[in-house]
Amino acid sequence: MTERRQLFAAATLALAATPAAAQPARQLTGRTALVTGAARGIGRATAIALARLGADIALLDIAEPEAIPALRGYRLASRAELAEATRLTAEQQIRTLPLVADIRDAAALRAAAQRIEAELGGPDLLVANAGIAINGALAEPAPEAWQAMLDVNLTGTLNTIQAMLPGMRRRGRGGRIVIVTSVQARMGVNGSGAYAATKWALTGLMKSLAAELGPEEITVNAVAPTAVETPMVHRGGDAPQPDPRRAAAFAGHALPIPVLPPEQIADAIAFLCGPGAPTISGTTLDVNAGRSAQLTA
Ligand SMILES: NC(=O)c1ccc[n+]([C@@H]2O[C@H](COP(=O)([O-])OP(=O)(O)OC[C@H]3O[C@@H](n4cnc5c(N)ncnc54)[C@H](O)[C@@H]3O)[C@@H](O)[C@H]2O)c1
Repeated sequence: MTERRQLFAAATLALAATPAAAQPARQLTGRTALVTGAARGIGRATAIALARLGADIALLDIAEPEAIPALRGYRLASRAELAEATRLTAEQQIRTLPLVADIRDAAALRAAAQRIEAELGGPDLLVANAGIAINGALAEPAPEAWQAMLDVNLTGTLNTIQAMLPGMRRRGRGGRIVIVTSVQARMGVNGSGAYAATKWALTGLMKSLAAELGPEEITVNAVAPTAVETPMVHRGGDAPQPDPRRAAAFAGHALPIPVLPPEQIADAIAFLCGPGAPTISGTTLDVNAGRSAQLTA
């Protein structure tokens, strides 16, 4: 572990430590969840969190590090990472189904839906998490980066939901959809405007779907994280080690934590998928170390 990561980890521990709670009740036994972008990062943590609650899990990922040429600074996940995520998820004694698919490919997602239904049933729970981030100024045209982010973050998310809805409807027992947006769906961002635009668009998608699917008792919500300790944020590089408290303040966090562990986001997603949230729909759950204190209501 690099020094920078050690510092972040130290700052993270006190806040993120789960009390010595015993194994959580397996409230999702009998349910099937699909998590996209599940090979690593937030998606992997979510697959494990939902599995701990007893759900069977389909883990979908592009699993091809170089599949999106416009991506700069970091790579997509590999097949080995998807296999490792599946292994860790299966440790929770539930059924798993790894799926290699690109969420830009609607036909591949329909095929994935058929496999999920045939092998696991469902899905009842859908976590649309896969996404990419490419930095750059909006004033500087970067058409490939713009298109790639629109295609993955926005169209890919809609593709996923459209492919899984028929199966959810057939299950007919109150599906849950959670879309992973970002704190950047809450503000304008210098140097990340295209990414922010796709995340704002996802908020609109989430709210409209909540209105559309509510009569079928399917809830649709978003979880909006601040910076999370994943390859997307680290981009393989190690900046000079910042003091974690100062880094947190710089990031606008009220809490003294600059970067969140993915498990914190997974727990919020699991809440929205669980028995505590059947009547929550059309909303964004911010997981941002108190950044919300500076945002308008
Ligand atoms: N890391 C952060 O700081 C942060 C903050 C806010 C929001 N988010 C959002 O969280 C989500 C997960 O990001 P992460 O931080 O875990 O990043 P990550 O890069 O570690 O994980 C993203 C996963 O999605 C997969 N993926 C990307 N494009 C895909 C495609 N077209 N089809 C299928 N799979 C694809 C990748 O292979 C990877 O496994 C993203 O939507 C991201 O925008 C991340």
